[in-house]
Amino acid sequence: MTPTYDLQLYESLDDETLIERIQRVRVELGSRLLILGHHYQRDSVIAMADLRGDSYKLSALAAENTDCESIIFCGVHFMAETADILANRPERLAQRDGRRVTVVLPDRSAGCSLADMAAINQVEDCWSQLAESIDIEDVTPITYVNSTAELKAFCGRHGGIVCTSANAAAVLRWAFERRSRVLFFPDQHLGRNTARAMGIQTDQMPLWDPDQAELGGNTEAAIRNGRVILWRGHCSVHQVFLPEHIEQYRREYPDIKVIVHPECTAEVVELADAAGSTGAILDAVQSALPGTRWAIGTEQHMVDRLRRDYPQQHIHFLAPTESICETMSRITLANVCWSIENLAAGTPVNVIEVAPETARWSLESLRRMLDVK
Ligand code: 13P
Ligand code: SF4
Repeated sequence: MTPTYDLQLYESLDDETLIERIQRVRVELGSRLLILGHHYQRDSVIAMADLRGDSYKLSALAAENTDCESIIFCGVHFMAETADILANRPERLAQRDGRRVTVVLPDRSAGCSLADMAAINQVEDCWSQLAESIDIEDVTPITYVNSTAELKAFCGRHGGIVCTSANAAAVLRWAFERRSRVLFFPDQHLGRNTARAMGIQTDQMPLWDPDQAELGGNTEAAIRNGRVILWRGHCSVHQVFLPEHIEQYRREYPDIKVIVHPECTAEVVELADAAGSTGAILDAVQSALPGTRWAIGTEQHMVDRLRRDYPQQHIHFLAPTESICETMSRITLANVCWSIENLAAGTPVNVIEVAPETARWSLESLRRMLDVK
């Protein structure tokens, strides 16, 4: 089929037609195409994915795959960048005689507002200011995977590492085996929650505000006392969950289990029964005894899907108001169909290709992450 290049025409098609056209290309391309989907995707889109997962699993899948020629990434920009870096690392390129895996993000504007809270010039400025107060050789930079490739490259250059919500504790342990301090960006909550669970005190975690000119708004003494310097960044989707929501559910259902994503505040994580990545939340629900009652603090699409997929469990959304990741929702059947048909026609759109030097250094920090057990 010759694709119609006008995305607007795809947007006027009904879901049934879009699904049929996507399926036709999936059959035509077979194992040459891999569609990856994050748990926060809308139902209609996730149903088109060959494989789904949390950020860690999706990175590992992109790294492991040996036979696909293209990846359609139903997720957000930093995830597609990570897939590009891993799928096109030098040893994989050599195995494919230099042919790149084409990584496509169906909507280029599907970003992450948390990732946008740390820019490379701000992190570089922070690093050089820190170097005037503490021994910078003794600091490991850790970037949450929800960050631009430039920040991953920064970590690669400075002996640092990437983490996801699935492996943050192991990554922090790895860092403390080597150096005595960490600079953790861009999500303060994941950093704080992980470090607190390791016994690090809050007063040893100064908060670096990139909008404050001097030492991120800290005194020199606070920085010297710091073991984990946290970046002032957050995910707004996860800030809607509050301690009183947990208390309210517990009053109503004393046996309820509360599980939240570690991007929630420390007050919420500490009150919850468990915290974990989207993959860990899925595993917990999947493996619980039938009849278990849950209040879940993560993005709405995922919680609604869990409720439908596991009717034997009683699943509640932790907050009284909905919380959707608007950027994840930008991926639709229409832009997936548009992307996939262009791919099949040899005219790929929205290709995510990280600049070579950035990819090279990002790979250093991503490899360290994938090696941490
Ligand atoms: P996970 O790695 O847990 O899937 O989280 C990704 C994310 O963006 C959470 O907001
Ligand atoms: Fe980013 Fe939050 Fe959306 Fe996750 S839920 S992609 S952290 S904005």
